[in-house]
Amino acid sequence: MQGKRVLLVVTLGLAGWLVIPLLARVQQSGAEAGYSLAEGDGKALVAASCAGCHSMGTSLRRGRSREEWVITVNDMVSRGAQMLPADAETMIGYLSEHYGLDFVPPLDQFVMVWVDHQGNVEPLAAPPGAYNRPMLSPDGTQVAMDIPSDTTSDIWIYDIPSDELRRLTFEGNNRSATWSNDGQWVAFGSDRHRSPEERSYREDHEAYRKRADGSGEAERLTDAEFNHGPQRWTPDGKTLSISEIHPDTGRDIWMLPFEGDRTPWLFLATPVLEGGVSFSADGNWVAYTTGKPGQREVVVRAFPETEPAHQITTGGGIEVVWPLNSKELFYRSGNKRMAVEITTGDTLTVGTPRVLFEGDFVSSPGSRAYWDATQDGQRFLMLKKVE
Ligand code: HEC
Repeated sequence: MQGKRVLLVVTLGLAGWLVIPLLARVQQSGAEAGYSLAEGDGKALVAASCAGCHSMGTSLRRGRSREEWVITVNDMVSRGAQMLPADAETMIGYLSEHYGLDFVPPLDQFVMVWVDHQGNVEPLAAPPGAYNRPMLSPDGTQVAMDIPSDTTSDIWIYDIPSDELRRLTFEGNNRSATWSNDGQWVAFGSDRHRSPEERSYREDHEAYRKRADGSGEAERLTDAEFNHGPQRWTPDGKTLSISEIHPDTGRDIWMLPFEGDRTPWLFLATPVLEGGVSFSADGNWVAYTTGKPGQREVVVRAFPETEPAHQITTGGGIEVVWPLNSKELFYRSGNKRMAVEITTGDTLTVGTPRVLFEGDFVSSPGSRAYWDATQDGQRFLMLKKVE
């Protein structure tokens, strides 16, 4: 700790002269970010110094102990943040008092919007919420999604015509909801089998399913060593694709049959990440994304046999959406939403990908789509961040 402290002082000695103009510039962007900081000695300094290179949300993503704040502020200095030693002390004091270990960060708020092929946006009636991974019911009237709260995360279903939001899960952390194609079931990942102290938002989730009308208990579908999340159901409802996070082979794809003894079988495991599964309407093909983080591409393979594989994108593709009554498959490439015509049958015909629209919508950091389409592929359900 002492060594770090020295680094701070030394670096500041050199950079102190630059403080004033930098603060003036950064103050503005801090104000623009609209983050409401706790009142206290040091607030203005933090507002001025900690929202210039990244958002205040990044600075305050989680609470930290005093030691951790000392390390973080030192780290920022080594990354180029400029501050006087006395001000650094004040900021560390302010941050550890108001953003200590018991601090719960505010959740980002989103609105649900319809977007057409031209990129025209029409908000749904629902108020802003911490909506995550929305998926449309097959008839397009309901949205299943996970909504985190301060302490937990649950699956909720939003009924579009009646503008009503109802909660589907009441135990543990629950996320990544996915509808069966008959609209009867919602599968999701959950850690409800763990004791409350052991639960965490990300670890040791297994796949569960529950009736979409909320009746009955949730049924556990998988039981394995590593994290499991449900992907999509085959159109006939007989199989659910599952992603597994494996320490050696990254994210892999398994298939869980609902017939027979329900033994899951491995569909694909490679050293890179596979995910974002979507099936063709005839059930003979499966689209997914593969690659290293930041370099993923969309691939379509025959199903259930895995050969041959057809690469759909070359310039990057993620967040695949393949509606059952659409001639096109959709995906995201950077900030662009793309469409590619695909005909399936015994063989696969793939058109040339085209840009639909570009826009500032919530996108997935991983492979799973944070948007969805109506079954005819004409409208998209997307999330927009509330600034
Ligand atoms: C000169 C630019 C700059 C300034 C000013 C700055 N940071 Fe950072 N900060 C960075 C960079 C670069 C990263 C790394 C971003 C990444 O990993 O994507 C980062 C990441 C972070 C993170 C996330 C990484 C972690 O340790 O968990 C926190 C927290 C953070 N900054 C806090 C602060 C605080 C508090 C201040 C104000 C004292 C501040 N930053 C000011 C450049 C800056």
